[in-house]
Amino acid sequence: MDNYFNSFDKKYINYYSFIQFKERYYILGDFLIDPWGSSIVDYDKLVNQFGIKDFSEILGEIEDPARLMKRGVIFGHRDFDKLVPSINAKKDFAVMTGMMPSGQMHIGHKMVIDQLKWYFEKGASLSLSIADMESYAARGISFEKAKDIAVHEYLANYIALGLDLTDDKVNVYLQSQNKTLNDLTFKIAKRVNFNNMRAIYGFNESTNIGHLYVPLVQVADILLPQTEEFGGPKQVVVPVGVDQDPHLRLTRDIAAKMNEEYGFLAPASTYHRFLTGLTGDKMSSSKPNTAIYLNETPKQAEKKVKSSKTGGRETLDEQKELGGRPDECVIYEMLVYHLVDDDKELEKIREECMDGSLMCGHCKVHAAELMKDFFEDLKVKQEESVEIAESLFD
Ligand code: TRP
Ligand code: SF4
Repeated sequence: MDNYFNSFDKKYINYYSFIQFKERYYILGDFLIDPWGSSIVDYDKLVNQFGIKDFSEILGEIEDPARLMKRGVIFGHRDFDKLVPSINAKKDFAVMTGMMPSGQMHIGHKMVIDQLKWYFEKGASLSLSIADMESYAARGISFEKAKDIAVHEYLANYIALGLDLTDDKVNVYLQSQNKTLNDLTFKIAKRVNFNNMRAIYGFNESTNIGHLYVPLVQVADILLPQTEEFGGPKQVVVPVGVDQDPHLRLTRDIAAKMNEEYGFLAPASTYHRFLTGLTGDKMSSSKPNTAIYLNETPKQAEKKVKSSKTGGRETLDEQKELGGRPDECVIYEMLVYHLVDDDKELEKIREECMDGSLMCGHCKVHAAELMKDFFEDLKVKQEESVEIAESLFD
């Protein structure tokens, strides 16, 4: 299977998003990540050295794989092969993820929603955690404020992007409001000691206890679909960015410790690449010139696409002679992740870019047009979705 990111594999991505608890270091495998430095992640290294498996090796076993899987955006997994039979049979598994309500949603967040939709079509039940306890501990956001952001910014957009959160097979909850979750967190806490936490997160003696506690709530999030209340032990997959892997490793350890008593299975996970920011750096909620926010107007979105960094050459002549560089191009990445459905059409753009027959100006206008169409559609759906989102917690 052709991978649209062949040369992208070598690409290093700035790892700023690894900061969750600002003053801490996170450790991935035995690789210490400095949240303040311009830390860098090499996806190849993650796959080769840190126990994350190459997704492309199991791609062929999945019937009708999701677009992000086919295109190599989802590059790694843990234990996903164990889930494939259930996915192909369209039964007996769950997908779970969580969101920390803080900033604004941007186009990069759409990736997780696209994946949730795919699993849902494959028969999964869906568990969605609103991590208000995490946003309190990590960002000092009150529970009231977090709920407001979650409903109006996050859930409304999840619905607008096509996820039916009112379906019986969906469980959306606020961490702070969920008694089963908090009881489970307490039971989990009994199975972890300080050395375990330090080995995974690099915590030290002056770490705030809230920071120690919150990852345990996330472990409970991930195990919740396997509790009695949700039908007992089952296969669960957690689609995340690789910054969440420490939490998954912790959960897998704890699931093993609780297996005898509760029957918990180790959760599977998948890891997707980050969307590059419009400037070529990492896309970040707090840097408006790097991201397209979901609450922007179609015109603004169109404009931002047009101002994005391309993989084009200095001059037109040079471009004609040498061709463009799609693997270093933000526009191309947008087409791959979000804007072009048809694989053949994408292939054509790639070829014409590389053989020098497609010019960036033209290509940008096309991408900007597609983005504008997408936002026009989104605006209509957002108008209806706010009320639905509000009704979820009535
Ligand atoms: N920690 C995640 C974030 O920062 C949010 C989250 C909470 C989550 N619970 C989860 C993610 C469970 C995956 C699974 O965005
Ligand atoms: Fe990017 Fe398109 Fe230019 Fe190629 S032609 S470098 S894909 S903008």
